[in-house]
Amino acid sequence: MADPVRLRVLLLFIIYTFFMSKELHHLRLVGNTPLITLKLNGFEHIDLEVKLEGYNPTGSVKDRAAAYILNKIMANKTINAETTIIESTSGNFGVALSAFCKYNNLRFIAVVDPNITSMNEMLIGAYGAEIIKVTKADSNGGYLLTRIEKIHELMHTIPNTYWVNQYENPLNARAYYDSLGKEICFQAAHIDYAFLGVSSGGTITGVSKKIKENFPECKIIAVDVEGSVIFNRPASKRYIPGIGSSMVPKILKEALIDDVIITNEWETINECYTLLREHNLFVGGSSGSVIAGIKNYFTRMNITQPVNVVTVFPDRGERYFDTIFDKNWCDKIPQKKAEEAVLAG
Ligand SMILES: Cc1ncc(COP(=O)(O)O)c(C=O)c1O
Repeated sequence: MADPVRLRVLLLFIIYTFFMSKELHHLRLVGNTPLITLKLNGFEHIDLEVKLEGYNPTGSVKDRAAAYILNKIMANKTINAETTIIESTSGNFGVALSAFCKYNNLRFIAVVDPNITSMNEMLIGAYGAEIIKVTKADSNGGYLLTRIEKIHELMHTIPNTYWVNQYENPLNARAYYDSLGKEICFQAAHIDYAFLGVSSGGTITGVSKKIKENFPECKIIAVDVEGSVIFNRPASKRYIPGIGSSMVPKILKEALIDDVIITNEWETINECYTLLREHNLFVGGSSGSVIAGIKNYFTRMNITQPVNVVTVFPDRGERYFDTIFDKNWCDKIPQKKAEEAVLAG
């Protein structure tokens, strides 16, 4: 018969490891963000519900994609403990990936460019990522192509890498289908319209699919900004980070989009200040963009009957301290002329 003392020690060890593995780390608290109601001045017929994604652990909706993608590729053994994760990102996704890579003891290299904000550069570094900053502008005058070139170079020189590639990785969209989309459908009683900002396309692709499964009559409206090429509009300089893109994301092919509304950066800034002043909501640029998009859409479509609308505020205002919430920075953005908002298709 086994020694009872040894048995007791073994039992205690099993109980201890079980509870230690259940220790609640704050990075496990991704999702289950609040859905609040908002009444917009002059648009009282809109019952607006807003998902506040700034409540995620590193402060943005991108925690959902970062946590989901890493969990999936670790579980299906696409990567191992020695894999180096690489991604071209200067924004919230870089911050989220560095935090979740650190949590999972994975090496992470973020390829960034000189447009990165000092806040994001500090956070990405502080969470432990290695930062490679490209400085050579590409043939379009931006840095996107140079960053992608650098990614390919890293994949050739470092053994055992995984390029997250949010613009093409179906797991990016899947993350939002399985979490954000599911939560919205669970929390909202009825949805006539959903307005979603677009950058890599992950959010709208995943969420639109889930919403249409639950509310087939719901119209999905993509919100993009002037200067972004996502919806076949001419490229021009964009100032506000987070929303829009200078390439068309491949994953967007699966998105179920009914209409596109294009907003300009001044409307975005104004709405950010209005949200702060009138609703005590200190939120990031694309939150202002979606509000501008909602107002422009219902005005242009002349929809005045009561409607249930859902939207997503992807992050909080702190990260825009030296951009949107710095009046001197705002003054440097050229005033866009007549084009206030364009319904693109
Ligand atoms: C700050 C921020 N995060 C995330 C998103 C959603 O982007 P994606 O299309 O990459 O999922 C947006 C788009 O509006 C955004 O502005």
